[in-house]
Parts: sequence; C-alpha cells; structure tokens
Amino acid sequence: MTPSQRSAPGRPKIGVFDSGVGGLTVLRALVERIPEADYLYFGDTARLPYGSKSAATVAHYAVGAVRYLQEQGAELLVIACNTATALALNEIKAAAGVEVIGVVEPGAHAAAVATHKRKVVVIGTEATISSHAYRRALEDREIAVREKACPLFVPLVEEGWLEHPVTEQVARIYLSEAFSDEASDADVLVLGCTHYPLIKPLLRRVAPAHIAIVDSAESTARDVARHLVPQLKNELRGVPLLKFFATDSAEKFRKMGTRFLGLPVEDVVHVDLKE
Ligand code: DGL
Repeated sequence: MTPSQRSAPGRPKIGVFDSGVGGLTVLRALVERIPEADYLYFGDTARLPYGSKSAATVAHYAVGAVRYLQEQGAELLVIACNTATALALNEIKAAAGVEVIGVVEPGAHAAAVATHKRKVVVIGTEATISSHAYRRALEDREIAVREKACPLFVPLVEEGWLEHPVTEQVARIYLSEAFSDEASDADVLVLGCTHYPLIKPLLRRVAPAHIAIVDSAESTARDVARHLVPQLKNELRGVPLLKFFATDSAEKFRKMGTRFLGLPVEDVVHVDLKE
C-alpha cells in the first residue's frame, strides 16, 4: 500500500507515539486493520532508548511528544512504546485531552487468550520489566508470570542484526533463563517491546516448540478499531495518509523506518522539542 498525500475530510486522525522506529510495528498493524483513518507518528529518536531511563524522565518526554501530536490534530493517541505505556500511561492520560490507548493491556489480553497453562513469560526492556506493569495486568487475569529483561535486543535490532548469529546466541541465553525452573511449563511468550516482533522468526526457532508467541500490535489495533466504531464508515475507506515526526535526523528515520514499517516512509519532519 502506498500512502496518499491528502487527508479526506471525516477520516479520524490517530496519533501514534514511540521512543523511536520500533512503534512502526504497531502502526503497521493499525494501518492494516483501520485503513479508514489517517496517522501521525512521532518517534523520539533523539532521546531513545527509553528502556534504560527512569519513570520521571520517560513521563516527561512522553507527555511532551503526545502534546505535540495533539497540536498536529491527533484525535486519539496510541502509545506504541511498551516502556512509555508501562511507566507513564497515567501521566500521559492526565495530560492528554483525548482518548489514550497503551499496549500493555491489549498485550496482556492477547496472552490471556493464548495461554492454556495460565503461565506466561514476558520479555521487555529493563524499565518495562522493573515496572511490573505486565505482571499486574496478567495477575489481574489470574495468570502466573515470569518477567525477563532483555536489554541487548533493542541495539541488535537497531543494528539490523535480525538473523545474526550473535542475536541468536543472545536469544538462547535470555530465553533459557526466562523459561527456567517454575517457568519451564509456561506456554506463552509475550514480546513486551516494540522491537521484538522484528526478531520473531529467530525467537520462534529459539523458544521451546510448544510456546505461542504474542505481541501487542495486533490486539492494540483491535482495541483502537473497537473504540472508533462509530466513526468508521465504509465510504472513508482508502489509502491512509501517513505523516512522521522524528526528533533525530529525518533521513535516518526514513531509512530505518521503511524496514520496520514494511511500507515506504516518505513524509518525515524533523522536530526539536524544547526541554
Ligand atoms: N520502544 C521501546 C519499548 O517498546 C523500546 C526502545 C527503547 O528502549 O526506547 O519498550
């Protein structure tokens, strides 16, 4: 699908926020499920990674970014970044004047549907895992959880090492620790980070064969579609307008973004958010 350049009147405008290009995996799911909408995507590439930062810093950055998206006309906000959702969803909701949908609840829902053993392993950034946001969301559904931080995956994916022997070796170490002892009979692996869907084929090979792998992109898109039902009319169908904002180089975003989105990333504007 090639993005059109003109927004048709009446089409909902969805703002998608991530710390970088990883959230484009969520945007891809949104575009596939809701072609009746147009999209504004903000990647805070100058301040990535969020996964090693404190909750206060992540909240401060995320609130600035979503305010910018609203100024550009976003009528609904999707927080594609697992770290920002896990650490700052309440602050973002308090600051936004529009509906905000994060990725943790939809991810936990997808895991709850997939697990038969009611035992799940969640992997994510250091910050997401230490927040225990997934643990809370899953325990609310009476599902036992093993959480495992996998901080090396984000730089490996950013490097483009999606099928590299080093990434495979790192994955073997992380997953053998994650599925050890009382988690050895868990039957679902939740990809609690925007970057991990890109190494899903590798994780599929490395993870125990009986494990179902879930990511939140698809179930987040379903939640957003449900929310927009009254606005989604058949006559609005068409090619979504995609507009991108990045805090680091627009050119770099264009190049990397195309890999994550699987569609051409063309209309990129560099944004300098003042502290
Ligand atoms: N977007 C982040 C997440 O989903 C990963 C990259 C980062 O650490 O900023 O947790």
